Amino acid sequence: MAQLVGIAGSLRKHSYNRGLLQLAAAHLPAGHGITIAEIGDFPLYNEDIENNVGIPEIVASVKTAIAKADGILIATPEYNHGIPGVLKNAIDWISRPPQDQARVLHGKPVALIGATVGTFGTAFAQDAWLPVFRALRMSAWSDGGSFYLTRAGEAFGPDGQLRDAAVDKRLAAYIAGFATACEQMQTKGS
Ligand SMILES: Cc1cc2nc3c(=O)[nH]c(=O)nc-3n(C[C@H](O)[C@H](O)[C@H](O)COP(=O)(O)O)c2cc1C
Repeated sequence: MAQLVGIAGSLRKHSYNRGLLQLAAAHLPAGHGITIAEIGDFPLYNEDIENNVGIPEIVASVKTAIAKADGILIATPEYNHGIPGVLKNAIDWISRPPQDQARVLHGKPVALIGATVGTFGTAFAQDAWLPVFRALRMSAWSDGGSFYLTRAGEAFGPDGQLRDAAVDKRLAAYIAGFATACEQMQTKGS
């Protein structure tokens, strides 16, 4: 069974991406587990902090969770057709120091989901993540296709509940596929 770490790339209280991540967690088939890592209190990356103070405790604890996990599920917003800064800042911290990347990130399966209020559903942002994953030697999962949620303001009702059953079904299939893939990779690796 796979143990995953989930990261939501928006700090907004009623974030659609956080909502999507929580729904994905709820749809994880029995036996698999997911821990939601919080990145909102990560400081802005500053090499002086790293060199003079070290890796902040809050970053180190997320790194440990990722190192132990079989895969990472990231719910990414899209800002100006790219990666949102909050989430890139978190991954940049998690990637430090470079000598620790093998323990934490190399070969780690990573899947992306994302929601926008517009019509592209984070397609640009998800593409923009791929070179980052490549740089960190992570294993971007693509067997489940892409999960984009467009017009999130319509898919989620004013109460924050997803009211589109087709999206719900698609998300359930996506997370089940990713958990199974992580489990299989774990078996291969052991
Ligand atoms: C700075 C900024 C840039 C944005 N750029 C895009 C964009 O390029 N494409 C898009 O579809 N939505 C864009 N949006 C709208 C987001 O899709 C929308 O705010 C969404 O709700 C953000 O995700 P969240 O609900 O998880 O916070 C942008 C929003 C902000 C604040």
